[in-house]
Amino acid sequence: MLNKKIEEAINAQINAELWSAYLYLSMATQCHDLGYSGMANWFEIQFKEEQDHAQIFYKYVISRGGRVTLKAIDKVQTKWKDPLAMFKNTLEHEQVVTSLINNLYALATKEKDYATQSMLQWFIDEQVEEEENARTLIDNLKMIDGNGYGLYMLDKELAARVYTQASPLANAE
Ligand code: FEO
Repeated sequence: MLNKKIEEAINAQINAELWSAYLYLSMATQCHDLGYSGMANWFEIQFKEEQDHAQIFYKYVISRGGRVTLKAIDKVQTKWKDPLAMFKNTLEHEQVVTSLINNLYALATKEKDYATQSMLQWFIDEQVEEEENARTLIDNLKMIDGNGYGLYMLDKELAARVYTQASPLANAE
């Protein structure tokens, strides 16, 4: 049975992951608006990945006999100055998510909930990748420095990103 404090914290994390999905869909919308269809593809895949993250937590709560309680999803920003501002916001947001995951892990440790610690290990590794991806794209955009051809090439590169279901979900099927 899932400890109530942990159940509450994971429910909050489900909401945070869904909010992340909503944020990235908003960024995808603006990329389409600006004509960057490759960047829009990148953010649409982020959108799907965040839904996967929410679903992993959702399934985990149920598997431990807990109760998922879905709360309202707050509104998200709808406009950014340029792609660089969007990827900077992505990195800042992922750093916040990393601290949320770390707090969850600290709570699971305090409560001696070893199963939750084990489940969270995948998220700890995932956050390293999430932050690295955003950082790389910020570096690329800084190198390009607004050059049209550079932006065109980066957009083409990001158009090639393909969605793969998060492994804890894929392995469960
Ligand atoms: Fe669910 Fe982007 O971390």
